[in-house]
Amino acid sequence: MHLLEVKDLKIHFKIEDGWVEAVDGVSFYLDAGETLGLVGESGCGKSTTAFAITQLLPKNAYIKGGSIVFKGKDLLKYLKKDGTIRLFDERMRKLRWSEISIIFQGAMDAFNPVYRMGKQIEEAMYAHPEALPRTLGPVGEETARRPSKELREAVRKRVEDLFDVVGLPKDRVDNYPHEFSEGMRQRALIAMALTLAPSLIIADEPTTALDVITQYKILKEMADIQKRYRTSMILISHDVSAVAELADRMAVMYAGRLVEIAAPLDLFMNPCHPYTGGLLVTIPTIKGDKEAMMARIQSMPGSPPSLVNPPPGCRFHPRCPIAKDICSKAVPEPVEVDPGHIVWCHKVRTESEGNEW
Ligand SMILES: Nc1ncnc2c1ncn2[C@@H]1O[C@H](COP(=O)(O)OP(=O)(O)OP(=O)(O)O)[C@@H](O)[C@H]1O
Ligand SMILES: [Mg+2]
Repeated sequence: MHLLEVKDLKIHFKIEDGWVEAVDGVSFYLDAGETLGLVGESGCGKSTTAFAITQLLPKNAYIKGGSIVFKGKDLLKYLKKDGTIRLFDERMRKLRWSEISIIFQGAMDAFNPVYRMGKQIEEAMYAHPEALPRTLGPVGEETARRPSKELREAVRKRVEDLFDVVGLPKDRVDNYPHEFSEGMRQRALIAMALTLAPSLIIADEPTTALDVITQYKILKEMADIQKRYRTSMILISHDVSAVAELADRMAVMYAGRLVEIAAPLDLFMNPCHPYTGGLLVTIPTIKGDKEAMMARIQSMPGSPPSLVNPPPGCRFHPRCPIAKDICSKAVPEPVEVDPGHIVWCHKVRTESEGNEW
């Protein structure tokens, strides 16, 4: 059994003039200890897919179909009948932070400015007494309503240890969020995401706002931590090369759908979907074959379609240099070109069946 299995997920947003078909038939899985990188242009549905897992979607989001099975339970069974989210569902509340935690961009918004940093992380621990024995051992079995001195000390020590793990000085635990730099706040958010030793971390552009050196250091620490705790991670980023360094598999999204999933090396060496090819050439190389790169970018004119009335068939077909009739008529079915390398493209399917395109 996979740790997480998302099948045929469809999420639409209700707006004044209709529906935004933000996620349309997305399927992937994640195993324990694995990192899945999710990449694609702005607005292609990465965050919407990720936040559906924790059911932290806006009020106008309707989950129109599919399943999200986490540790054997379909989380979409907890939705209201019309597919909207029950914001205060107790079963989801218990999962968040404890089993699935989230690191997003702009850590300032994640913290309350009037409470000390360490205190806020401690609060997240006390809010999940059921998870305390997992990280604190026997002392965590005590109910946290009136924590004993021993429990308070253990919680405090856990926070200090995690500050150490994410590269923050322990003596900054009692600082307020505004006394941290943006990079330090982002590290504190990672510490908070780890406090209860969740099985899954969803990191949505965790380092985008930071300078390149801090970004690299934080991503490297995340990778080390993940190895140490065998945590699974969904890592969302515009930075395809950073994702490729950390991910076991990469999923490429375009206009609300997946177009290709593969291990980074397979994706770079043998990109099969025309969109993936276009996306990868936008990564500068050290060799810097600029002319070839520009030629390939120019061969993919246009921009992603509106998701209010998305193109029928393959959503990439209006921009695709090799599209044929069928591409505007039928949604492509997935084809496994190599073990674990899946592509949603009519051309790839036709050729895999031994026919000429
Ligand atoms: N609350 C909302 N109401 C209506 N449309 C929305 C809402 N939130 C997101 N969308 C639309 O859903 C689509 C997917 O958005 P999403 O935020 O998931 O994209 P993304 O891939 O995470 O983009 P980015 O890389 O910019 O973060 C976009 O077209 C966006 O405009
Ligand atoms: Mg996003």
